[in-house]
Amino acid sequence: MRTLVGLALLLTCPALAARPYRGGVIAAAHPLASEAGKEVLEAGGNAVDAVVAGAFVMAVVGPYHSGLGGGGFAVVKVPQGEFAFDFREVAPAAARRDMFLVEGKPVPALSMDGATSVAVPGAVKGYLELHEKYGRLPRARVLAPAIRAATRGFPVTPKYRDLARVREACLRRDPEAARLFLRPGRDGVPAVPDVGVVITQPELARTLKTLAEKGAAPFYRGPLARAIASTVTANGGVLTEADLAAYATRWRAPLVGSYRGHRIVTMPPPSGGGLTLLQTLAVLEARGPSGPAARQPEVLHTFIEALRRSAVDRARFIGDPAFTPIPMDDLLSKAWVDRALAGIDPKRATRSSALLPAELRPAGPESDAGAPPKNTTHLSVIDRDGNAAALTTTINYAFGSCLVAKGTGVLLNDEMDDFAAQPGAPNAYGLVTGEANAVAPGKIPLSSMTPTLVFMKDAPAEVMIAVGSPGGSTIPTTVLQTISAIIDLGLDPVRAAGLGRLHHQWLPDDVMVDKTGLEPATQQALEAMGHVFRRVEGWGDAEVVTVDPVTRLRAAASDPRNEGGVSGQD
Ligand code: DON
Repeated sequence: MRTLVGLALLLTCPALAARPYRGGVIAAAHPLASEAGKEVLEAGGNAVDAVVAGAFVMAVVGPYHSGLGGGGFAVVKVPQGEFAFDFREVAPAAARRDMFLVEGKPVPALSMDGATSVAVPGAVKGYLELHEKYGRLPRARVLAPAIRAATRGFPVTPKYRDLARVREACLRRDPEAARLFLRPGRDGVPAVPDVGVVITQPELARTLKTLAEKGAAPFYRGPLARAIASTVTANGGVLTEADLAAYATRWRAPLVGSYRGHRIVTMPPPSGGGLTLLQTLAVLEARGPSGPAARQPEVLHTFIEALRRSAVDRARFIGDPAFTPIPMDDLLSKAWVDRALAGIDPKRATRSSALLPAELRPAGPESDAGAPPKNTTHLSVIDRDGNAAALTTTINYAFGSCLVAKGTGVLLNDEMDDFAAQPGAPNAYGLVTGEANAVAPGKIPLSSMTPTLVFMKDAPAEVMIAVGSPGGSTIPTTVLQTISAIIDLGLDPVRAAGLGRLHHQWLPDDVMVDKTGLEPATQQALEAMGHVFRRVEGWGDAEVVTVDPVTRLRAAASDPRNEGGVSGQD
């Protein structure tokens, strides 16, 4: 009952209502990125121009999230069709499966900090190829807002400070990173800058101007590539100019599923996120009702148990599809849903240890997810014509590897940590993965990023929702709960993004709940079934745009837990 009262309050609170727009809309994790999206929409650009312009701005104003030294995924709907685009980083040719082990044990600093953690960046090729293929405006027009932001600078925000604090020691180790992202503190030691300090990035502005003039090529061959490779090798890493010259993006067939009559188009492997999303939605649809009852303890129990089972299969099977066979047909079949449902006791939580597959034993150290991370970023756009783009992009951990390619302003990723340093050993997000995700030269690390499009029930070619989020292992559950809040609870995107969240990832065996989380009575009911809760401040940063199925008016939301913004055309 109290669940329903809470929900009724949420549904009627006018302060939370989304503003309607008639034209294009964009949601992004920084207002300068959503403004850039609107600027290019107003200049006659489409959803792809807007998402690319916004992504380049995020590379400047959210150096802890994403950047030219990172990579990501996009799912787009354009007149030519629906596509999944993979511009994720790959392991350098000299990468080895045991490169993060010392005396047989994983050393997280090797895969998370500095040169050894850097994979071959894909973002520049990704953003520019996406733009070249499906954008409308000239490249220089799309890059202009990012060049402006790098030249004029942007003020440090509370989030910048929080994430710079997490990485302060790491950033200090690279003089270039310290100069750009820290400021001299007491005794001249570089320290986290105060809120409001303006961060300008003249070298990055120069690099962006080169890309505007010449396209992606100079990033992968020539002086920029040389600067990246020599910075990495001078600091003990293995990435070479040849790795950069060999980098290629991948266009993939998206994963397609459905939820209560809505077609869902999402990211296939090397993301495990799309699979978790579709599997869990399928279990919920089979067992759980729509409407306010979707927040009842029995339905949430099914949700948690479905997540637990999906995560086991993710750990067993998912990795770079070019390196590992993935039984995708089975994983997306009705038989999988039936098996999951048959294994779920409607009244008792399953212990995760009971589902531990033999090949993941012995696991490494106990999985400990720690505080949920807040880096990585997502942008969602729908334009006036109904084209849509959902793009999630990252340099992995906050400020990536903390290493800046000398003279370029390019902060490099630490995406190598998304591999299993040792099958069975957890990574920075407490995620346990197996042999399918072992390090190998040229291989793509397994990802959780889940850019997703949801289509109208009665007009299956029209996009109704574009959504995505950061949050490491929590990404698919954030995306799923946002979609369910819109479809099952009928919430507008602002309320949907603000709704309290749950997360379970098999290991560790607990249910994470955020501070806006659950009604106490609901949590108690779940605890009585054997679920163990871990309350944390919050996670994720859902960026979501929607089209109303009746009025076709658009709305957008940037997660109220964060500092983003939305923008749109009337
Ligand atoms: O690709 C992945 O799944 C991770 N590298 C994403 C990292 C992330 O979302 C960090 N957290 N907020």
